[in-house]
Amino acid sequence: MCGIIGYVGNRKTTDVLLNGLYALEYRGYDSAGVAISNGKVEKIIKSVGRVNELEKKVDKDNLSDSIFGIAHTRWATNGEANINNAHPHKVGKVTLVHNGIIENADLLKEQLIKDGYKFTSDTDSEVAAALLDQALQTTDVLESIERVTEKLKGSYAFGIMIEGDNNLYALRKDSPLLIGIGDNENFLASDITAIIKYTNKYILLDVKDIAVLNKNSVVIYHDGKEIQKPVQLSDSKGVDNTKNGYAHHMLKEIMEEPIVLSRLIEKYANAEDLAKLDLHDYEELDIVACGSAMYAGLVGQNLFEEYANIKVNVYPASEYRYKKKIYNQKSLVILISQSGETADTIAAMREAHELGIETLGIVNNPDSTIARECDRKILTNAGVEIAVATTKAYILQVCVLSLMTYITAKNKKLLSDNQDYSCFEKLPALLKEVLDHEEEYESIAEKLYKKESCFYIGRGIDYALCMEGSLKLKEVSYLHSEAYQAGELKHGTISLIEEDMPVLCIISDKNLKDKSISNLKETEARGARGIIITTKDLDDFEGYDKIIVPTTSMFTQSMLIVPALQLLSYYVALKRGCDIDKPRNLAKSVTVE
Ligand code: F6R
Repeated sequence: MCGIIGYVGNRKTTDVLLNGLYALEYRGYDSAGVAISNGKVEKIIKSVGRVNELEKKVDKDNLSDSIFGIAHTRWATNGEANINNAHPHKVGKVTLVHNGIIENADLLKEQLIKDGYKFTSDTDSEVAAALLDQALQTTDVLESIERVTEKLKGSYAFGIMIEGDNNLYALRKDSPLLIGIGDNENFLASDITAIIKYTNKYILLDVKDIAVLNKNSVVIYHDGKEIQKPVQLSDSKGVDNTKNGYAHHMLKEIMEEPIVLSRLIEKYANAEDLAKLDLHDYEELDIVACGSAMYAGLVGQNLFEEYANIKVNVYPASEYRYKKKIYNQKSLVILISQSGETADTIAAMREAHELGIETLGIVNNPDSTIARECDRKILTNAGVEIAVATTKAYILQVCVLSLMTYITAKNKKLLSDNQDYSCFEKLPALLKEVLDHEEEYESIAEKLYKKESCFYIGRGIDYALCMEGSLKLKEVSYLHSEAYQAGELKHGTISLIEEDMPVLCIISDKNLKDKSISNLKETEARGARGIIITTKDLDDFEGYDKIIVPTTSMFTQSMLIVPALQLLSYYVALKRGCDIDKPRNLAKSVTVE
C-alpha cells in the first residue's frame, strides 16, 4: 500500500511533506521517511513506527533551506518494518519512494549484485533505485526511467530525486499517484487528501507517463514526447482529523451513522434519484468487493434474491479476478469499495470491462479510480473514514444495496402495500436509539474481552451480519472469532466448542428464528455460553445475555444490528487495550494485490 508525497516550492518543505504523510497514514503506518534537498545537500531521515516518530526526528534534524523533497509512509510488503527497509531509498545518484510490488525484483537484484551493486535493505524498491542509477550512467533521466520501467514487472508509483538535478520525477503503473498543481509550487501524492490544503487542481498520470516537476512547471512526457493532460478539480474537503470529543475515530464514525444515513435516505426520497438505483433490467448480478465491502454485498445478495427475484453471486475480488466468468446480456457487475482504490476490486472492474460487461460502482471516495472508471457510479457520501476498520461506510453500502432492492422490487411489482419508503425514513432515529445503549455493549464486552475465541452464528441474512460482526471484532480487538452458518456447525466446527466459549447468535429473520436457536442450544449443550442479538418483536429468550434492537422492515433491519456489533467490538478492543484506530498489520486502503 504505502503513501507517497513530494513537494517543490517556497513553503517549508518538511511541513508540507509531514502534513501529507499524516493524511496518507491510512495507507500504511509501520515506518516513514523523508528526503529533502536544498539543491546542493540532500538529507534522508527515517523512522520506524508512525509519522509522529518521524516528525520528532525531522524537528531535530531539519534542513531549513530545503526547496524540494519526497516522503513515504510504509505498509511492509518486501522486508520487515525496520529502518533499513523504510523509504526513501538512495542508490548512487538516485533517491526514491515507491508504492507497489515489483514482482521480478529478486531476478533483477541478482544481476545488479553481479554488476557490483550492494544493497542495504530487503526491499524491491531499492532494486528499482539501483536500476535507475545504473541506467543514468549511460543516458539521460527520461530515457533511463523508460529503460527501467521496461524491465519492471508488477505495480509501482515512484517519486524520484536525482543528485545534481532540482526536478522531481513521478510515474505510476497500477498504483495511484497524482500531480498537484499550485502557484509557484507543485506536488505529487498518492491521493488528493494529502495536498488538498494547498491545491485542489491535479493531473492524473497514465501508465508510461513521466511527470517532471519543478517550482514553476509540470511537464508530462509519454514515449519521449511532451504531452498535454487535463487539469482536474477536486471537491474533496480534505480529512477532518478531529475526534469531536470521542476517544477514538472509530467511535466517532459509528456515532455519525444516523446523520450520514439520513443524508442518503433524504437524497433517494426523491423519485428521480431513486429511479437511478433500479436494476430491474438485469437478470443476474455479480457483487465483487473485499472484506467488509464484500460482507455488505452478502447482505445485498440476501435482499435482492428474497425481495427482487434477481440471482446474485458475491465474490471476493481477489478470487473473481482469476475465475472463469460466465455472463449473459443481462448481467451487471457491482463493485463495492469505500476507498475506490482497492487493487483487487479495481482489477476486477477492468476485467469486467475487457469482457464487455457493464459495471456499477458503489463507492465512498468520489475522486477514486473506481469512481472514475466504472460505467455507472453511486456515491455513498459517508465522508472520510479515518479509523482503519470501516463502520459508517459499510452501513451506507448496505443502505444503497437495500434501496436498490426496494426500488427494483417495487418496479417489478413484488412489494406489498405496507412495504414503502417509510422504513428508510424512520431508520436514522431508530439507529440513534441503538447507539444510545452504550452501557449494554460495554457490559457484554466485559464478559467477552478475556476470552480467547468466540463464534458468531446465524442463518440467511443473519449469517451475512455475523461475517461483518466477526471481522470487526477480530480486526480491532485481536480476539479470535469465527462466523458460521448456524446449521453448518455440526458438520465439523462444533468440535471447537469448549466450556464457557461465547457463541453470539444473530436472529433477525423470524422465519429462521427457531432453527437458529436450536443450533445455539446445540453449542450450549457442549458448554458454550450463548449471547443473543435480536429484535424487539422476536425477543422471548430467557436467561441469556442479549442485545435487543428495535424492529423495522427486513430492508433496514441489518442497519440496526451491525452498529450494535460495531460498538461491541469497539468496547472489547478498548478493554483489551488495543490500538483501535490503527490495528496492527493493517492499512485503510489495500492498493496491492
Ligand atoms: C474492515 C475493512 C476492510 C475493507 C476492505 C475493502 O473493517 O475496512 O475489510 O472493507 O479492505 O476496502 P474498500 O472498501 O476500500 O475497497
